[in-house]
Amino acid sequence: MPRRGLFITFEGVEGSGKTTQAKALAEWFEEQGYPCLLVRDPGTTAIGEKIRDILLNPENSIHPKCEVLLFLAARSQLVYEKILPALMDKKIVISDRFFDSTYAYQVYARNLPERLIAIFNRFASAGLKPDLTFLVDLDIPEGRARGKCTDRMEQESFSYHRDVRDGYLRLARRAKKRIKILDGRKQVDELKAEVINYVKELLERKGYRI
Ligand SMILES: Nc1ncnc2c1ncn2[C@@H]1O[C@H](COP(=O)(O)OP(=O)(O)O)[C@@H](O)[C@H]1O
Ligand SMILES: [Mg+2]
Repeated sequence: MPRRGLFITFEGVEGSGKTTQAKALAEWFEEQGYPCLLVRDPGTTAIGEKIRDILLNPENSIHPKCEVLLFLAARSQLVYEKILPALMDKKIVISDRFFDSTYAYQVYARNLPERLIAIFNRFASAGLKPDLTFLVDLDIPEGRARGKCTDRMEQESFSYHRDVRDGYLRLARRAKKRIKILDGRKQVDELKAEVINYVKELLERKGYRI
């Protein structure tokens, strides 16, 4: 058996279907009898949920540097309090967003310096890297039409969100092996089946019996 559990993340613009697929995958693991932990970034820990409220409250005006540091602060608490202990316990951890969000939203779309953020990011997440990442790709109007668009990030301009989407696609091209692009226009069940296929490949590669 592998030494630690597996770490799987979901990424994408607002309304693309990340949360839907993350939950579906967590349910699938439960059905298969694999102990699994579903978390959201930012959030899940008590402190992380408080930081999330600050970040998403549309009444708050936040400088991009403060914003990225708050996201990283929440992430470090999540990593040390929840994700690393669960992985050491050989659990499968599924995270609704993780560090790719920082590159898409803060580095590409807000133009923060990539090399510096990469260092902060390693510091915040203990060098932890997902074994597999799903990028649920959807164009901005379609994602908007599905959701409520009331939080601070969702209220950003269309062009900001288009930059986020482009940023994600660039990341996926750079890390083809880790990041799998899903077409968010497909039906929920069709996407779930694709996710499970990729996950089965990962489980086999890592020496799990399925
Ligand atoms: N593949 C899909 N096709 C159509 N609607 C979807 C799909 N996936 C999710 N939805 C719906 O779109 C909305 C946003 O989905 P959600 O999973 O919350 O997106 P995200 O977490 O990426 O913002 C929800 O109402 C959800 O039921
Ligand atoms: Mg969501």
